[in-house]
Amino acid sequence: MAKRSRIVGCGSYLPANAVSNKDLEARVDTSDEWIVQRTGIRSRHVAAEGELTSDLALAAARAALNHAGMDAASIDCIVLATTTPDNTFPSTATKVQAGLGLTRGFALDVQAVCAGFVYALSVADSFIRTGQATRALVIGAETFSRLLDWNDRTTCVLFGDGAGAVVLEAAEGKGDASDRALLSTHLHSDGRYYDLLYVDGGASSTMTTGHVRMHGQEIFRHAVTKLSEVVEEALVANGLEPSDIDWLVPHQANQRIIDGIARKLKLPSSKVVLTVDRHGNTSAASIPLALAEAVHDGRVKRGDLILMEAIGGGLTWGSALVRW
Ligand code: UT7
Repeated sequence: MAKRSRIVGCGSYLPANAVSNKDLEARVDTSDEWIVQRTGIRSRHVAAEGELTSDLALAAARAALNHAGMDAASIDCIVLATTTPDNTFPSTATKVQAGLGLTRGFALDVQAVCAGFVYALSVADSFIRTGQATRALVIGAETFSRLLDWNDRTTCVLFGDGAGAVVLEAAEGKGDASDRALLSTHLHSDGRYYDLLYVDGGASSTMTTGHVRMHGQEIFRHAVTKLSEVVEEALVANGLEPSDIDWLVPHQANQRIIDGIARKLKLPSSKVVLTVDRHGNTSAASIPLALAEAVHDGRVKRGDLILMEAIGGGLTWGSALVRW
């Protein structure tokens, strides 16, 4: 028998305010046509003034607990992926912990930008498999709109706000790919690519929050090759073939990147969970938002094999394979 972690619930939250490409045309030198053709994005949600990352995270966490049929009191670990924390410290995870009324266990933030959710899953899975936790909330939450430079049309049209969460629970398995569990995570980073995607501010450097800066074309090239490699790595490690995948739940940065990965895997578009059209790029929140949508609308069935992959600033990238 092998100790593993299983996802027993998921939930999400989107701020009420949806901003369409047409709305953006009024304030930025762009067009609905350009944004749709280059990215697949049609709309994104933007948090209201005073609505913080922890508020989004808490709403998603409550939805995930509700779906799992679990009381918050049974959670002993919170791992929250975000690149837009409420404050430089303390962690946003501890604010969520307090919001759930929890006084035991531990909570921490993980910073891997758009790859944050896959990183957070891996961290929580390690806590569970080593016995440091038995039930973990894994959250991806962002108010990325707060990092946008509205004079930079190459970035400001791409991102949105939101949060998604899953409940992970310790489970016994056989230790092979038939287990209903998180089968594997594979993480990578390469800090040499720092300046391809970064925020030009920070507590230690400028003492300001700063704005996102991106070399889009180069990130695009890295995304296609690195995501293909990390997907292959996950399948080989589990003795699985692309044809075994029931659902691709990718990070939602650009529909063209997602289509490219699906083509390499020979997956029909009906097996790809796509939210980028309505959410834009919500960084660490995009995978759990997409997962919650596909689970709650009944697409994902018990026993299905789900492949997640993401790449973000750093560069950081990774994949996770889950048997639902
Ligand atoms: O989540 C983290 C990972 N991030 C990503 O995966 C993002 C990866 N990169 C991308 O998704 C794409 O590179 C972008 C969507 C960011 C850009 O698409 P692209 O096809 O690579 O466009 P480009 O940067 O080569 O720009 C093409 C043209 C340029 O004009 P010129 O120089 O050809 O005259 C840009 O100035 O499009 C122009 N442009 C715009 N036009 C209208 C750039 N942004 C806009 C805009 N509206 N918002």
